[in-house]
Amino acid sequence: MSTPINKLLLTDLASSVNHVPSNYIRPVSDRPNLVDVVHVAEGSIPLIDLQGLHGPNHSDIITQIGLACQQDGFFQVKNHGVPETNISDMLRIAREFFRLPESERLKNYSDDPSKTTRLSTSFNVRTEKVANWRDFLRLHCHPLQDFVHEWPINPPSFRKVVAEYCTSTRRLALRLLEAMSESLGLESNYIDKQLGKHGQHMAINYYPPCPEPELTYGLPGHTDVNLITILLQDDVPGLQVLRNGKWISVNPISNTFIVNVGDQMQVLSNDRYKSVLHRAVVNRDKERISIPTFYCPSPDAVIGPAAGLVDEDHPAVYRNFAYQEFYEKFWNRGLATESCFDMFMASSTQSTVDPVS
Ligand code: OGA
Ligand code: NI
Repeated sequence: MSTPINKLLLTDLASSVNHVPSNYIRPVSDRPNLVDVVHVAEGSIPLIDLQGLHGPNHSDIITQIGLACQQDGFFQVKNHGVPETNISDMLRIAREFFRLPESERLKNYSDDPSKTTRLSTSFNVRTEKVANWRDFLRLHCHPLQDFVHEWPINPPSFRKVVAEYCTSTRRLALRLLEAMSESLGLESNYIDKQLGKHGQHMAINYYPPCPEPELTYGLPGHTDVNLITILLQDDVPGLQVLRNGKWISVNPISNTFIVNVGDQMQVLSNDRYKSVLHRAVVNRDKERISIPTFYCPSPDAVIGPAAGLVDEDHPAVYRNFAYQEFYEKFWNRGLATESCFDMFMASSTQSTVDPVS
C-alpha cells in the first residue's frame, strides 16, 4: 500500500512516516547497498593545504591540485581563506531556514528549474520517476546585485549572511580556477576568460532523517553539470564518491571544503580532468545539511576543449556548445549515471551550435 503524499515538501512529510513512501523506493538493483561502501579514514580524498598558494609552496600546491583533478576528480581544501565565521553563520542560517513554518518556506516554492531562486524537493519533480529524500533551496549568486532581492527575507539575516558567504566562496573559486588553469599548463587566466560573465549558483540541501535509508537516496549517483563545485557539509556523513568501482564515504572535516571537477571542467580540459560520480545517502536518526557552491560559465559562454590541450595525439573529444544548451539537457534528463556528454562529443551528429574557432 502506498502512503498518499499531500505535502509539497519532504521536510513536512518525513517526520510523520515510519516507512519510506513508495514513490521514494528505488528498485532493488539501484539501492545504496550501504554494507559495500568503503569507510576509509581521513586522507582518502586528498586534503590540500592552500596556505602559501601565492607564496613559497606555489608550484607544489599546483602539482597537488592537478594530480587530484586527474586521479580523483575530488579533493578537500584547508586554509582556503573563507572565514570560519562565514561558514558557521551559513550553516546556522541554513538550519534556521529549514525550521521555518511550512507556510513561510512555501513562499519560495517552485518546481520550475529555470527559476533563479526557488525552494523545491527531490531533483526535478516534473520529470523523475522516483523521488529523492531531499528538499533544497537553490539560489543564483553572481552577480549578487542581480539576484539578492529575490532571496528569502526570512530568517531576517538570511540575505546578509548568504551574500557574505557567496562573496568569500567566489574568491576561493577564482583562486582555484587560476590554479587549475596553471596545472593544465594554460595561462593562469585561461579558464576565467572562457566563462563569459561567469555564473555562481548555490544549493542548500536539507536531508531529513529517513526511517529506511537503505531504500532511497538523498541524491543518486550523478556528476555536477557546472565547472567546479565547492561543497560545505555539516558534521553528518552522507557524501560518497565513486573510485575504482567502489563508493567511498567522505567524512566531514570541519572548516574544510570539498572541491570537485564538474562536467564543464572535463570538457575544457579535453578529458584530462574527470567529472566523477558522487551521491548522497541519508541517515536514520539525523538531519543533514550540505551547501554546494556551483561555479559555472554564464549561459551564453561557449565551452569547448582548450586549444592548447588539443593536438594530433589528443584530438578534441567534445564539440563547442553554449553552456545553456548543456545545462538545459542536464535538468531535463534527470540525474543519471551516464552524464550528458554523449550529446556533446566532437563526433556527435546532434550538434545544434556551430563550432567556434
Ligand atoms: C549536489 C551534491 C552532495 C551532498 O548537490 O550536487 O552532490 O553531499 N551534493 O549533498
Ligand atoms: Ni553533486
